[in-house]
Amino acid sequence: MSTNKGLALVNKDADGVSCAFRDDVLTGLAQDQKAIPARWLYDDAGSQLFEDITKIPEYYPTRAETQILSTRSTEFAEHIGPDRAVVEFGSGSSVKTPLLLEAITPAAYVPLDISGDFLRASAAALSQKFPDVPVYPVEADFMRQVQLPAEVADMPKLGFFPGSTIGNMVARTSVDLLRTMRATLGAEAQLLIGMDLIKDSAVLKAAYDDAGGVTAQFNLNLMRRINRELDGDIPVDALEHRADWNDEYARIEMHLVAQRDVAFSVCGTTFTMKQGETIHTENSHKFDRRTSQTLLLAGGWTPVQRWLDDEQRFSLILAKATVPRSAP
Ligand code: AVI
Repeated sequence: MSTNKGLALVNKDADGVSCAFRDDVLTGLAQDQKAIPARWLYDDAGSQLFEDITKIPEYYPTRAETQILSTRSTEFAEHIGPDRAVVEFGSGSSVKTPLLLEAITPAAYVPLDISGDFLRASAAALSQKFPDVPVYPVEADFMRQVQLPAEVADMPKLGFFPGSTIGNMVARTSVDLLRTMRATLGAEAQLLIGMDLIKDSAVLKAAYDDAGGVTAQFNLNLMRRINRELDGDIPVDALEHRADWNDEYARIEMHLVAQRDVAFSVCGTTFTMKQGETIHTENSHKFDRRTSQTLLLAGGWTPVQRWLDDEQRFSLILAKATVPRSAP
């Protein structure tokens, strides 16, 4: 899975503390609704816990998307065509990328990831599996426009953004990202993007609050990370994981709920929580045909094909860079 979900900025202060992490945590805990950006969930332990989540019975998105990728190869070949440079945003260690590369005969593969170590490892694994496909790894934060390697400059691009990671952003950020991807990939580009679907809220809640408690550990790990990296003393045992369906925003929200009144400090600043008060740690937006279409169009992409898994839980959408024209 991608470490880019972490998007951990590397600026550190004299004590080696990530300034962006500290600023986000101190600002977020001072708000009326305490909230910490979800990207900080992905330290090493958090990335491993997310990898574990993708295998639990209740978490269907990874299996559903993999099913689409493994059963629609002929259609991908037909709609995408050969000889594109595949640019993966948050390069995957998962089984998904090989399924796509096998289907479409790409001219090159460009994995983008913010973690150089992770990037080199996944690029090496892909090179071994596809010796005829040149791999050009780029260490970069894909939330900003990326200069792609000169070797792929003249090739048409296919952006690949699986996993419904777009759903972890609020609408404004996701539109910004789609527009940035459009700028990175160029006018002739296509984008293959995974978007999870709105469904029965009980199914969604179970996927984000599994019986085995893996998602709870993923969420609580953020508090352990704060205690470790930001000199915190948050009483982790006083917080409980909760996943809520927010119907107005069509999203699952992860929260940590105080089980009693608590006081703690982080980087020398004291915070309190009343029993029942929460820290909001993640949004996972879900889409239907119209909302996914609207989002893509707002981001400069015109949907051309949409595939669902057998149980209609997850969508994989192929879009092409919209050609600007005057319209009503
Ligand atoms: C990475 N992302 C798409 C996951 C999701 O489904 O929103 C993160 C996750 N959070 C809890 N479970 C999985």
